[in-house]
Amino acid sequence: MKSIIIIGYMGAGKTTVGKALAKELGVMFYDLDWYIETRMHKTVKEIFDEKGEEGFRIIEHNMLHEVAEFENVVVSCGGGTPCFFDNMDYMNQLGTTVYLKATPETLHAHLQMGKGVRPLLLNKTPEEVETFIKEQLKQREPFYLKAQHIFDIDVIDDYDKIQNTVKKLRLQLG
Ligand code: S3P
Repeated sequence: MKSIIIIGYMGAGKTTVGKALAKELGVMFYDLDWYIETRMHKTVKEIFDEKGEEGFRIIEHNMLHEVAEFENVVVSCGGGTPCFFDNMDYMNQLGTTVYLKATPETLHAHLQMGKGVRPLLLNKTPEEVETFIKEQLKQREPFYLKAQHIFDIDVIDDYDKIQNTVKKLRLQLG
């Protein structure tokens, strides 16, 4: 099996879906942010604080190359991963790419429920976050839409039923 690489905006559920899909397929799961933090012995926020976004993107690019070399795994990327360097083309060459597509409203709702620290969203009011998501999604979507599979999470009636999502995703991946 080619590795499955899950992409999409922050709050799309890449890690949750990726983990469940890997379990279902009986393969290893790697979350790129987790991999970066483990390899660098620093949190993503610490890397942003120390090296800025530009520094983080270089590390992310290098770590993507390490993770993408693993065979037969499921990888979930950071929301920005496909949008820098040649990362998206590289992922399309090495794996089966899946874009978890969601409306800005769904992403915002998920991000409000989530507890993870996202440096790009820190120190913003909920209104500012809403505008930021809409604008950034417009810039990023051309990259996301290069994925080989597009999986619309808004059509899942009950997103909490993760098994439902994974079942539909498996069917789509064939
Ligand atoms: C980022 C998304 C984050 C993380 C970093 C930057 C982005 O990952 O890589 O904070 O630019 O969208 P998640 O999409 O898993 O939150």
